[in-house]
Amino acid sequence: MILIVGGAGYIGSHVNKMLNLHGFETVVFDNLSYGHRDFVKWGVFEEGDLGEMADIRRVFQKYPITAVMQFAAFTYVGESVEDPQKYYLNNLRNTLNLLEVMLEENVKYFVFSSTCATYGDPVEIPITEDHPQNPINPYGKGKYMVEQVLEDYSKAYNLRYASLRYFNAAGADPDVEIGELHQPETHLIPLILDVALGNREDIKIFGTDYSTADGTCIRDYIHVLDLADAHIKALERLQNGGKSDVFNLGNGQGFSVREVIDTVEKVTGKKIKASEVGRRPGDPPVLVGSALKARKLLGWQPKYDDLSLIIDTAWRWQQKL
Ligand code: UFG
Repeated sequence: MILIVGGAGYIGSHVNKMLNLHGFETVVFDNLSYGHRDFVKWGVFEEGDLGEMADIRRVFQKYPITAVMQFAAFTYVGESVEDPQKYYLNNLRNTLNLLEVMLEENVKYFVFSSTCATYGDPVEIPITEDHPQNPINPYGKGKYMVEQVLEDYSKAYNLRYASLRYFNAAGADPDVEIGELHQPETHLIPLILDVALGNREDIKIFGTDYSTADGTCIRDYIHVLDLADAHIKALERLQNGGKSDVFNLGNGQGFSVREVIDTVEKVTGKKIKASEVGRRPGDPPVLVGSALKARKLLGWQPKYDDLSLIIDTAWRWQQKL
């Protein structure tokens, strides 16, 4: 069975669904601090906390776990600057707890949710896996530290892993069973869709004086189902004897905040009111990834390679919320 830690959250729940559709058996482990119990519609659910060794051991003793995927993490970059301890305890220490029990139980395969935030301010676009890693906030640093720990553990112990560095996860399950739901919501696409729905007055554009064509930040949006597909391919590669590795997961195409707003207007047919405000601290002007390595080594091919397709699935979900 595959243990999906944080499987009640946005990305973990989509991976859980896809694994089950592919015939894998799954156990979802989540403390429901940010996750949603009703997102766990597949596999079995075990409520528990990675801060409690007994909770982790209980799950490994109860089920025949052969591989682990780790999605449980706090993801608010700004908050990680204000309260770094919250991030290092949850994202770093608790992942070490999980790895400790995996080693005790001799579970060999680990798929880790990493992030483009481990690169820090890019010196070259598109960002490849060998781009220098100089994370600039505790969120990115904690993820980077786990990557480093994995490198050492894999050399010393019988552990094989894939670290998947996501760019901007977006979109929702096209069957509209699960989707993106953060409290509070800070991500661009769901916030714009809330304006389209009339739940929010306007979208604030954080900075219009960046060194980009229209002055707003550029990001690489990747559909959550394409991410899910890459997780399964990464897991299967490990199970088939593939070596430990890191992969960027993005579309390789950048869209500015204004382009995202325009695309939402096209998809929804609604006029979006935008207001221009100052920059959000810590936002690099451009983050676009090269995922050629994942395409080559995992045989991964993103299906949602058009921003309107991504937004369309997010829109259908947001209307159902
Ligand atoms: N933005 C706005 N207005 C908003 C919200 C966002 O203009 O109300 C802009 C941001 O400044 C940024 C872009 O829209 O330029 C995308 O912002 P998101 O908050 O949606 O995403 P981020 O690129 O900040 O964050 C993503 C992941 C994080 C991860 C980070 C790593 O969602 O979990 O990449 O850089 F930490």
